[in-house]
Amino acid sequence: MKAFYQDFKLGIIGGGQLGRMLLQACSNFNVTPCVLDPSEDGPCSVLASEYTKGSLLDFEAVYSFGKQLDMLTIEIENVNVEALFQLEREGVAVYPQPRVIQIIQDKRVQKQFYIDNEIPTADFVLVENRSDIEAQVGFFPAYNKLGKGGYDGGGVRKLESKHDIPKAFDDRGLLEEVINFQSEISVIAARNVKGEISVFPVVECVFHPTLNLVDYLVSPSSLPTEIQQTAKELAEKTIERLDMVGILAVEMFVTRDGEVLVNEIAPRPHNSGHHTINANDTSQYEQHLRAIIGLPLGSTAITKPSVMVNLLGEEGYTGPAVYEGLEKLLAIQGSNIFLYGKPITKPHRKMGHVTVLGDDLDDLKRKVQLVKEAIKVKA
Ligand SMILES: Nc1ncnc2c1ncn2[C@@H]1O[C@H](COP(=O)(O)OP(=O)(O)O)[C@@H](O)[C@H]1O
Ligand SMILES: [Mg+2]
Repeated sequence: MKAFYQDFKLGIIGGGQLGRMLLQACSNFNVTPCVLDPSEDGPCSVLASEYTKGSLLDFEAVYSFGKQLDMLTIEIENVNVEALFQLEREGVAVYPQPRVIQIIQDKRVQKQFYIDNEIPTADFVLVENRSDIEAQVGFFPAYNKLGKGGYDGGGVRKLESKHDIPKAFDDRGLLEEVINFQSEISVIAARNVKGEISVFPVVECVFHPTLNLVDYLVSPSSLPTEIQQTAKELAEKTIERLDMVGILAVEMFVTRDGEVLVNEIAPRPHNSGHHTINANDTSQYEQHLRAIIGLPLGSTAITKPSVMVNLLGEEGYTGPAVYEGLEKLLAIQGSNIFLYGKPITKPHRKMGHVTVLGDDLDDLKRKVQLVKEAIKVKA
């Protein structure tokens, strides 16, 4: 083996914050990261070894980007999968495999995958358009989800009754029963080229009351051990049945009865794994690299309890980003800041995150409020 991948060119499709943190892991392994992204000045633009501007959904852009590389991976699943299939046929290693990306790109196909593999998930019906939804009022209240293209809550609407039908997506998607959950959790699983599997400990996501976005995240989870064990086994089963290489974030609901249901999956680094950079033996980003390159998977053990808070653009501000209160934030003991380098802030845009480390989980939860009061992203 050469001294750690000196000439190894890894393509990353998507140049957002997940790509940016993956670049940091690439630099430790001396891998040369090349990024494809549609924007001029996204989070990876100043850090990638090579930065190519191009549409992720355009066959030619993805194909010609990938053709010159040793391996391709993604940091977003909304990419031109036909180009990835073509590259795979021509011998470029693509991880996660295009077959897996194709399943995950469409929530309808994802749901069928759970059914076929006996992975517990919320009941659902497929719908083609809004008038189809009107015929399904018996299924209300329900979550209406777009099949393709939604993220960060943008492709999800809650329909309480027939009065909400005008709010429904007039597009291919699904209606899902409302789960009255006690908590939302996430487990990140990794599977390497040899088929070895490792899972990170369960984290608990606390959602923003109105935005369908993670407000903050807590590690470790304080759920009963049996529930955490079930969740980890479910994540393992899911990555195994997908027969995929790379990391897979498995978002789950824990119902009031302690049942664990898979909500959705993402075959890439995930918001619910940011804390692993500071609070686990191996970060999710390094684990992803280890998995796809074919190295032994790293220990996932927690080194410190942590909370992770997303830094979102303040309401009412759009324009060049200004960070108010950085010094106050950094004075909070145990705080670690990650700024994504996005030049423009918009309301609720993910501009960065803060991971706070400590020994006492209750104290950390209190510090979440301090973090939020300390720092504001404005324009
Ligand atoms: N069936 C459901 N029951 C209850 N809450 C749900 C349901 N589906 C989604 N949600 C809520 O909406 C959020 C976003 O939905 P999700 O399917 O994860 O879409 P996204 O791709 O936007 O993350 C979930 O994290 C959860 O808080
Ligand atoms: Mg989600």
